[in-house]
Amino acid sequence: MPDTVFPPGFLWGAATSAYQVEGSPLADGAGISNWHRFAHTPGRIAGGDTGDIACDHYRRMPEDVALMRTLGLNAYRFSVAWSRVLPEGRGRLNAAGLGFYERLVDQLLGAGITPMLTLHHWDLPAALDDRGGWLNPDSADWFADYAALVGRALGDRVALWTTLNEPWVIADGGFMHGVLAPGHRSAWEAALVAQRLLCAHGRGVQALRAECSGPQHRIGLVVNIEPKRAASDHPADRAACERAHAYMNRQYLDPVLRGERPAELAALFGPAWPACSDEDIALMRTPIDWVGINYYTRGVMAHDETTWPLQARHVRQPGATYTETGWEVHARALTETLLWVRERYGDIPQYVTENGAAFYDPPVAGPDGIADPLRLQYLRDHLGAVADAIRAGVDLRGYFAWSLLDNLEWAHGYAKRFGIVHVDFATGRRTPKASARWYAKAIARHGAGL
Ligand code: BGC
Repeated sequence: MPDTVFPPGFLWGAATSAYQVEGSPLADGAGISNWHRFAHTPGRIAGGDTGDIACDHYRRMPEDVALMRTLGLNAYRFSVAWSRVLPEGRGRLNAAGLGFYERLVDQLLGAGITPMLTLHHWDLPAALDDRGGWLNPDSADWFADYAALVGRALGDRVALWTTLNEPWVIADGGFMHGVLAPGHRSAWEAALVAQRLLCAHGRGVQALRAECSGPQHRIGLVVNIEPKRAASDHPADRAACERAHAYMNRQYLDPVLRGERPAELAALFGPAWPACSDEDIALMRTPIDWVGINYYTRGVMAHDETTWPLQARHVRQPGATYTETGWEVHARALTETLLWVRERYGDIPQYVTENGAAFYDPPVAGPDGIADPLRLQYLRDHLGAVADAIRAGVDLRGYFAWSLLDNLEWAHGYAKRFGIVHVDFATGRRTPKASARWYAKAIARHGAGL
């Protein structure tokens, strides 16, 4: 092994999620999801895009697994579409829908690729949405039943499990600002949904543990962390920064890993902040084996009374590089994030479960694939930041580039490309970008030289 800081067994992966890549949303008896419905509501997704075809991964899955193998990935993070497995969200199992994930897992294992399975990456069965979705106090039970079912079916082959992907985004994007499904705009709902999601996570962990109790099974939660800095030393900006940090970062990890909810949020939300019983806090704190960090950018925050309830806004940094989604490129903040998690929550194993950038890509390939120098640089710098965190002692077990493929970037549609592999959405053709080629070489060296 060349001189590398990456530990043996480190996972070199890429990630996707069901609704973003699969297409064929209603195939083989699948039920409608909230995202299918949202995408088919005029005005919700840029350009009227939908996930009807997406990357056609549902039909091209063997080709995609072969592609992962060509790149040398030894891990793949994907999510299960709940509505394929349980078309009504509860009750009746759709064996054909589950069968897709069984085949996917078998193909991955056959290719020497470790599967990391996410149970919920935002696409909720519409039948559950009709009952209030995550606002419904029964949602934790629904999720636990679904988790048990998938755990029972795949626990013999899948060791790494994630309950939820980014609960903050579901609550903030789906219920506070209405830009993601189900499109509500209510601070009261967002605060309640955050709490319900954390309870569902706890119940999901317990249900999974009952089904997946082998020494190989490791259950985690994936959160997106956006470290915050104050735009100035002014006390108002410093306070805005703390509020934003509590809302976006600590709201989820504090209950799960410390058994407490950030006090700042009660003050911020006032009467909209839901009470939480000791029992619920204990449930949220159900022990997990690892935490997954999705890192894209940092946030430089200033006080702003016009944004409710946070009263904080992002401040653009002169001279910095911004991605196509308007996010500042800042690799060092990834190292700081991983160190912060260790410092605040202890030495829990961590994975970088998503990291990547949307940049414009030329549609035509050159000799080294599609030239994407900015994404390649982003990947190089962020893997360097991961190496720095490992050198500083963080127990980091793997890194997953977001994303394996260009895909449906939610409300932005297909215009924002995050893939290390280019997808021609007219033909479905996949072409590795230069970033993918570079990543493959870094993987072959087990990260030596980063
Ligand atoms: C999500 C992905 C999304 C990515 C880029 C994360 O918040 O988990 O589904 O595509 O960020 O926006």
